[in-house]
Amino acid sequence: MPIPLIIDTDPGVDDTVALVLALQSPEADVRAVTVSFGNVGIEKTFANARRVLALAGRPDIPVAAGAARPLVHEQEEWAPEWHGADGLGGRSAEFPEPVAADPRFAVALMADVLREATEPVTIISIGPLTNTALLLATHPDMTAKIGRIVAMAGSLGAGNTRGVAEFNVYADPEAAHRVLNQADVPVTMVPLDITMRTLADGDWISELTASGPRCATLAGVIAGYRKAFNERYGIDAVALHDALAVLEAVLPGTLRTTALPIRVACDLGPARGATVADRRPDAAGPPVHVALDADTDAVLAEMARRLRTLR
Ligand code: RIB
Ligand code: CA
Repeated sequence: MPIPLIIDTDPGVDDTVALVLALQSPEADVRAVTVSFGNVGIEKTFANARRVLALAGRPDIPVAAGAARPLVHEQEEWAPEWHGADGLGGRSAEFPEPVAADPRFAVALMADVLREATEPVTIISIGPLTNTALLLATHPDMTAKIGRIVAMAGSLGAGNTRGVAEFNVYADPEAAHRVLNQADVPVTMVPLDITMRTLADGDWISELTASGPRCATLAGVIAGYRKAFNERYGIDAVALHDALAVLEAVLPGTLRTTALPIRVACDLGPARGATVADRRPDAAGPPVHVALDADTDAVLAEMARRLRTLR
């Protein structure tokens, strides 16, 4: 039985790969795509999400725009140096025209999908957690319809956008706290600890490029991201963070998780956006299922196999 999914995203290079991965996965029943600010501004992330659905030939899936900014403090950080000024690695012109926009606000679309669902819905959060936090806060009656939240978020170790902060959490720490510190909906967190160990190398990208014209367009989006990875980390490979969260959502158990309460630093100091695991045996608070291990070679091979079916 396919898994009903809502994907909340800020495309975004790895979001683009993640969206296609979901759309090419037979276990996935993508009911809606919702969009937030994040890697680039909402106007671009919204258009990009609709471009990706057009590339995948899925105009049937509703796409709605949501939060244009974080819940409390203004957004400090975008990521054009990683995702290009257009959010698609500078390749947006290579995509088809975007599919039509759904007129609802993202949270309204999420609530409508949940209300109509007869099976538990998985929410995949692969951008700032603002829309998901707003859903939990404004539609508490809908939490029973959410099977789980799978969020690419956080890091128990080094950060990427700040020394100890991962981008999605740093973009809106208050939203991340709201989602990670609640007991109504199980949460699987996919942090940098595992995504930065699951690196797609040049051969992986070349094989995707050679798999057909639409795969070539998809792989072309990665080129600038790959250059940025090389410049920062000195490696010729990329972490497709968001795609890992999607694979876990459609193949539950792909990632090996540890249940840990997670505290989010929401102060304005140097640790803002840090996600801290409380490993004390008597730690209080709802556990988050934190993905810290996987067969990374098998994960990358499975991602590639599915993505190549785009042709
Ligand atoms: O830290 C990685 C996350 O931030 C990914 O979701 C990427 O798309 C960026 O938004
Ligand atoms: Ca993202």
